[in-house]
Amino acid sequence: MSKTIIVANRLPVKIQESNNEYHLIPSEGGLATGLGSVYKKGDNVWIGWPGQVIEDDKQEQIADRLHDLSLIPVYLTRDDVSEFYEGFSNDVLWPVFHYYASTYTTYKPSNWDYYQSVNEKFKEVVLANAEPGDTIWIHDYQLLLLPSLIRKERPDVAIGFFLHIPFPSHEMFRLIPWRKELLEGMLGADLIGFHTFDDVRHFLSSVTRILPTPVSSNVVTCGERSIVIESFPMGIDAEKYASLTQQPAVQQQAEEIRDIFKNNQLILSIDRLDYSKGILQRLQALELLLEEHPEYIGNITLYMLVVPSRDSVPQYMHLRDQIDKKVGNINARYRTINWTPISYYYRSFPIETIAALYSAANVCLVNPMRDGMNLVSKEYVATRTNNDGVLILSEMAGASHELIDALIINPNNVVQVKDAIIEALNMPLKEQQQRMKQMRALVTKFNINHWVALFMERLNEVKLMQRSMQTR
Ligand code: G6P
Repeated sequence: MSKTIIVANRLPVKIQESNNEYHLIPSEGGLATGLGSVYKKGDNVWIGWPGQVIEDDKQEQIADRLHDLSLIPVYLTRDDVSEFYEGFSNDVLWPVFHYYASTYTTYKPSNWDYYQSVNEKFKEVVLANAEPGDTIWIHDYQLLLLPSLIRKERPDVAIGFFLHIPFPSHEMFRLIPWRKELLEGMLGADLIGFHTFDDVRHFLSSVTRILPTPVSSNVVTCGERSIVIESFPMGIDAEKYASLTQQPAVQQQAEEIRDIFKNNQLILSIDRLDYSKGILQRLQALELLLEEHPEYIGNITLYMLVVPSRDSVPQYMHLRDQIDKKVGNINARYRTINWTPISYYYRSFPIETIAALYSAANVCLVNPMRDGMNLVSKEYVATRTNNDGVLILSEMAGASHELIDALIINPNNVVQVKDAIIEALNMPLKEQQQRMKQMRALVTKFNINHWVALFMERLNEVKLMQRSMQTR
């Protein structure tokens, strides 16, 4: 039977070593959480990095453990991690694609060399596991070269590619010295998917100007091959989040949180540590609110979870220090004997605790400066089975195209964010319910299964179309 091979830089679990033993723990980020429930079906497998450098003599043992979970590891060396992962992926592609190019990007040729060689490494593992008839689905910015590398060796195989982060405008993308090679790498796929139509538009404009290759509507022609470019807004496992809220342990935890904050309205934020998430701007908005509206002192709490991420990349370490400082300043200035404005956590939490927090929070504040989709906003909505609660959402997140009943804000406009928080805290229940109901219907219908099915069906169609054109 043919299978789907998911390929992403990270596996959905990562290895952690303690007391000479290896433990598997869930990976962070939208990609791993979003696709976590998909790869387990049938004979499907997931190929990726287990998140740690594993010494040669331990690799076989780890591979066996992962194999039982349908996971196939690609091992990275320390140099791979520093040059390919921290260097090219997270110090070039991530900042440029999130419009932070001038401040945060350095273009080191050695980073690029490793980016190419690690993409080759992934290719070897994919080819060793791909059988005729299999479909290969490659994910995200760390593997932009992989579609073409595989295509060269297996001209007929079906390859889908999906980018989980924004594709920037041509004016940003053209800054990258290896822009041509990156586009050519992606165009090895048969179907290229993005979260939004804007990403599609930006990609097509880069293809037209940089390669240049003929583009007609959303089809790019490369020699004999036609590559289809479309938007597929990613969904979540909405049912899982809705049913988590029914679990007694989750309900009890939510009750306990509500009890601790019984005199306060809770504003929740959950992000990976990242400058693209607008964490400092959020703190500024809260500070402004407390400054201008002392009546809220003692009555609201920002419950802020920041999940550690990429903390060996200098910008991330710096951001962490800035957040510590800002939270410290606000808390020191406004706290009272029995109240603290910000409950800040820098760590990961189990999904049950996250669900309890979603259930307990009156407001969820999602204000990224730029975000491919943002699944946290959808998770909050899916969890609100009573249809109450208010979502504040940045217009720079892909999700804002779908969740139009949220309070939509421009994250650069701190005054607007502050006003939206006040509006959310005072929104009548009826209006909360009207908005949340619409959003819940959308998140439930266009869920992760719908997203996977749509992408796979389209990839199938594109492949059939290509084959029929080649036999003409
Ligand atoms: C985002 C990216 C993913 C990435 C995740 C976590 O969601 O789109 O590709 O895996 O962040 O980042 P990390 O660097 O820890 O893999």
